[in-house]
Amino acid sequence: MGLQGERTAKWYRRASEVLVNGVSSQFRYWSDDDTLVIDHGEGGHVVDMDGNRYIDYQLGFGPIILGHGDETVASAVAEAAAAGTTFAMTQRREVEAAEKVMEALAWADVMRFTNTGTEATMHALRLARGLTGRDLVVKFEGAYHGVHDYVMFSTASAPPGELGPRDQPKPVLSSKGIPAAIQDYIRVVPFNDLPLLEALLDSEGERVAALMVEPMMGNAFGFMPDEGYIEALRSLCDRHGALLVFDEVKTGFRMAVGGAYEVFGVAPDIGTYAKAIANGFPAAAIATRGQVAGGWRSGGIAQAGTYSGNGVGVAAAKATVERLLTGEPLARVEKVGKALMEGLGRILADHGVEGEVTGHPSMFSIFLGEGEAREFRDTARHDAKLYEDLCMRMIRRGVMPCPDALEPWFVCAAHTDEDVAKTLEVFEKSLGEALEAR
Ligand SMILES: Cc1ncc(COP(=O)(O)O)c(C=O)c1O
Repeated sequence: MGLQGERTAKWYRRASEVLVNGVSSQFRYWSDDDTLVIDHGEGGHVVDMDGNRYIDYQLGFGPIILGHGDETVASAVAEAAAAGTTFAMTQRREVEAAEKVMEALAWADVMRFTNTGTEATMHALRLARGLTGRDLVVKFEGAYHGVHDYVMFSTASAPPGELGPRDQPKPVLSSKGIPAAIQDYIRVVPFNDLPLLEALLDSEGERVAALMVEPMMGNAFGFMPDEGYIEALRSLCDRHGALLVFDEVKTGFRMAVGGAYEVFGVAPDIGTYAKAIANGFPAAAIATRGQVAGGWRSGGIAQAGTYSGNGVGVAAAKATVERLLTGEPLARVEKVGKALMEGLGRILADHGVEGEVTGHPSMFSIFLGEGEAREFRDTARHDAKLYEDLCMRMIRRGVMPCPDALEPWFVCAAHTDEDVAKTLEVFEKSLGEALEAR
């Protein structure tokens, strides 16, 4: 029996008549009887078409940081919607929102808005290539940077067994429909392995426009960088004249209001932000320093978008970032996240399960396998079957993480202490059952 109740199943059939597989984004499709249709969200919860309520740890794949339907954001958006949203000119709300974003991102001088993370990373790479006159981009295995052709290689959906020898990794296409020749412009390396990256840059560094990195692996178990790793990436880029691009689509305004710069003290040349910047509304940003922005200023490197800086997105961004700048929401996220990470880890140990809770309190995962896990290739040792069974049992009890452990649990400021207590209780019960059923 799938997750759908009677009404949800009806809605799913209705959805499937008009939306391919009943979804608008393939990651939302689980199976024909497990794909849920949501009626609404409230704080840290979502409610499906049967009225079933779930503590939501998917949070739309990360954007919800204040809580679903946050009142301050909703009223800022309503006001903006009524004022007209899209003009062929810069608008007041766009300037106000950009000022807030710049206040949060201490390392950056200027920015431009886009709507999605995909657009932001695409423009960041074009800016880096246009500015350096070089073509190659280096990315990490297991990292997802959106769906445009230049980054759909060796993402978290690549089978770890197909990545080639560790010291000679090959970019594995993550989708059909991408010209094979694009592969020539991308190099991949395992995360947290400095010698391999150094060797790559020693041989091809002068052709590398950008090193694109998620400062923690937000699409692969939330693996954190080793001590000093991010600093080392900065100096390698400087040595080889490549731009360091932080893809902070997931980490930005979540890990810390100032993003990875605040956590690691390292500034990128370009940063991309989306998701938590606007608590679920479509807004994204490409931030940079004056010198790099010169690439756009002087023309010749195309950047555009009809809806970039639209009134609804920027009103949401301003209201969200303003709240985050008070420090309160992320202090709450950290408290809840820490309690969950500690509690889940304790329960694993009590049940004698090999594994660990990986990541950061704002987004973490559960690795079920032997030994230490720090990069994508280690995920081959994760017991995905046990984890999925455990998650499906949790979801039936009203606690909803993503059943694929690559995708972290996300925490928002609206999650309550009762949510934490219920989650730990449900996790323990479900783990016991899943272990028995193994
Ligand atoms: C790190 C990272 N970059 C880029 C993207 C793409 O963002 P979007 O889905 O808004 O296009 C994602 C989406 O999950 C992401 O996690």
